[in-house]
Formats: sequence, C-alpha cells, structure tokens
Amino acid sequence: MTRRLVIAVDGPAAAGKGTLAKRLALALDLPYLDTGLLYRATGRRMIDAGHDPARGAAEEFAASVGLEDLSRTDLRVPEVDRAASLVAAQPAVRRVLVDVQRRFAGEHGAVLDGRDIGTVIFPDASVKLFITASPRTRATRRWEQLATDPDTPDREEQITRVEREIEARDMADSSRAVAPLRAAEDAVRIETDGLSADEVLAEALRIVARMTR
Ligand code: CDP
Repeated sequence: MTRRLVIAVDGPAAAGKGTLAKRLALALDLPYLDTGLLYRATGRRMIDAGHDPARGAAEEFAASVGLEDLSRTDLRVPEVDRAASLVAAQPAVRRVLVDVQRRFAGEHGAVLDGRDIGTVIFPDASVKLFITASPRTRATRRWEQLATDPDTPDREEQITRVEREIEARDMADSSRAVAPLRAAEDAVRIETDGLSADEVLAEALRIVARMTR
C-alpha cells in the first residue's frame, strides 16, 4: 500500500517556503496549500468589515474563509501581513483553521507551507522541512517580489524597512503562546542563503527521497 504523502514546509517570513512548496508539489504531483493565506484571508475579511485585527475576536471571520478566498489579489499587502499575524495568535482562529488544513490533505496527501504544519497540523507528516535564511536575504527576496521600481535609489532603505517588518512578525510568530513558529524536532533544516530556487528544490527532493524510501 502506498503511504499518503504529507510534506510540511515551515519557516519564518519570506524564507522561500512558498516557492519551494509549490515546486515540490508540482514535482511530486501533490496538491499544494499555502496555509498563510488562510490567516491572511481571515485578517482581510476582518479589515473589510471595519474591525481592528488587534482587538476583536476573529473566529467568525476565520470560519467564513473558504478556499475561494485564497485567490484574492489583496492578501499580500503590509496591513494584511500585520493583520494575519495578529489573528493567527488567537487560539479560536487556529482551532477553526486546523480542520480546513487537515481536510485539504484528505486522502491524497499534500504539500503545505506555514509555521506549525510539522508541529501541530501534521505532527506525523512523512517529511518535515524547516526553511530559513538570514533576515537580510529574506527582506531582499520579499522586496524583489513587491518592488514597483527595482531601480529606485531608495533600494537599501526600502529593504531595511522590509527587514524590520519581517523581524517584528517573526518575533510575534515565535513568541505567541499558541502554535508558535519553531522547527519540529524531526524537521530537516534547509538554510537557503546563497542558494537558487532550483538548488533548494534539488536539496528538498533529495531529503524527500531519503525519508520516504
Ligand atoms: O509569506 P510570508 O512568509 O510572509 O507569510 P505567510 O506564510 O503568508 O503567513 C502570514 C502570517 O500568518 C504569519 O506571519 C503567521 O502569523 C501566520 N501563519 C501562521 O500562524 N501559521 C501558519 N501555518 C501560516 C501562517
């Protein structure tokens, strides 16, 4: 009998989890879920309804999030970065979203990227990867994804601002009481500074092959 393959890809903000997880899913013919989008969509719905994500309960907004929300184009903006991290610290929100994530992997398995996939959502995942890079590398990658003018003379200042934002979010994500960002004990770390997306994929595929033999 073939084992249902669940691959957990966790790590801090903008470490390249999404790029890797998407390509792994394609290479292994598995469904892919970016779980950060569930928290982003929850924060987005709360802001749209005129609520402050730093104050009110977000559970009912989480309950109304469906997979169709995840293709919204307004989820990767700074106010939603912050809102996602704030609602993600609410235990009731996480309880609602656990089921969505477990159901997604269903009978066919999946590649999921996030913060707590290997620790909380799928503690028995077949393979757990923890993707890291220095804050400067992560900020540069995120800036390059979002930059409206790649030749701006403000490049270094803008990257420094992004670096501060992702460090603040990592701090919040790592220090929260519920499902904090941390590597599972049995996760394999990939340090991606200086590696291309192809090199990270090749390393991840080697790890998957080794662990699923
Ligand atoms: O893409 P990036 O790494 O910037 O963030 P993301 O993966 O889209 O996640 C946005 C926020 O959602 C994070 O800062 C976490 O607070 C939260 N999150 C979480 O708590 N648990 C997950 N499994 C995924 C995201």
